[in-house]
Amino acid sequence: MSLVITGATGQLGHLVVESLLEKGVAADQVVATARDTSRLADLADRGVQVRQADYNDPASLKAAFAGADRILLVSGSEVGQRVAQHQNVIDAAQDAGVDLLAYTSIANADDSGLALAAEHQATEKAILASGLPHTFLRNSWYLENYTGQLPTYLEHGVVLGAAGDGKVSAAARADFAAAAAAVLLTEQPQEVYELGGEAFTLTELAAAVSDVTGKTVSYDDVPAEALTEVLVGAGLPAPYAAILADADQGLARGELYVEKADLETLLGRPATSLVDAIRTAV
Ligand SMILES: NC(=O)c1ccc[n+]([C@@H]2O[C@H](COP(=O)([O-])OP(=O)(O)OC[C@H]3O[C@@H](n4cnc5c(N)ncnc54)[C@H](OP(=O)(O)O)[C@@H]3O)[C@@H](O)[C@H]2O)c1
Repeated sequence: MSLVITGATGQLGHLVVESLLEKGVAADQVVATARDTSRLADLADRGVQVRQADYNDPASLKAAFAGADRILLVSGSEVGQRVAQHQNVIDAAQDAGVDLLAYTSIANADDSGLALAAEHQATEKAILASGLPHTFLRNSWYLENYTGQLPTYLEHGVVLGAAGDGKVSAAARADFAAAAAAVLLTEQPQEVYELGGEAFTLTELAAAVSDVTGKTVSYDDVPAEALTEVLVGAGLPAPYAAILADADQGLARGELYVEKADLETLLGRPATSLVDAIRTAV
């Protein structure tokens, strides 16, 4: 069985390859692809096949997918270009005649109103139109989106957001990766997995940060426009700040909430908790 993981230089893709190896898959059955394969030397050293592939370059995808049985398409990071890029990957997967195309999508893609959801929805549609056997790994937020901001939370004593009392089913990247690896090794995966961990509000996030660090941090809920302004003031490019504020509004509408059952079933254990993730980050 030849399992191809795209975006293997990325944080998620790399963790999926690691997880496949941990699960006992022979290294030579795993193909890790990247734009710049020199950044995959650690995997090549372990016997993983490393191949160059750029989502913008159909010929590179065709070569990279030769002999593939299953492909995990890790959604690209170039917002605005992803529909065309993912279509190139879908076309190449069709040419290769794979028996499964797995795609990392977004939670509740069927009706999510997040600005970020649009490209995932278009990609899911394109995969359906291709007729390829597929599975959609609809990931909620990464816990690391929050733990990565711990220094800022602690500096200001505030978690700033526009999410109201909405709950986010965030999970550790490593858990999403282990789930993706499990799906690749499942004979007949579900068509859709809604993946997320134990849900929390941003008020609960602030309380957990306070508990773990012993420093008082509270949640400050502001309108999306105000959040955008603060983020721009902190140096984020305006379009990115707007996407983050929009995501908080989606969070308020419950669009990043999913039941934790799919993730925990694939993991065969509880997902990493918020408190444990904060402890590790601290
Ligand atoms: N659920 C969430 O909270 C969340 C948060 C952020 C992103 N995401 C989505 O989940 C994906 C994986 O997350 P991550 O943390 O692993 O992101 P990441 O570390 O930024 O990795 C993105 C990967 O996509 C690759 N890529 C981008 N454009 C490409 C192209 N044209 N051709 C080939 N590869 C390309 C990157 O390659 P290079 O190393 O060459 O750049 C990298 O390997 C992201 O790309 C994004 O779609 C989800």
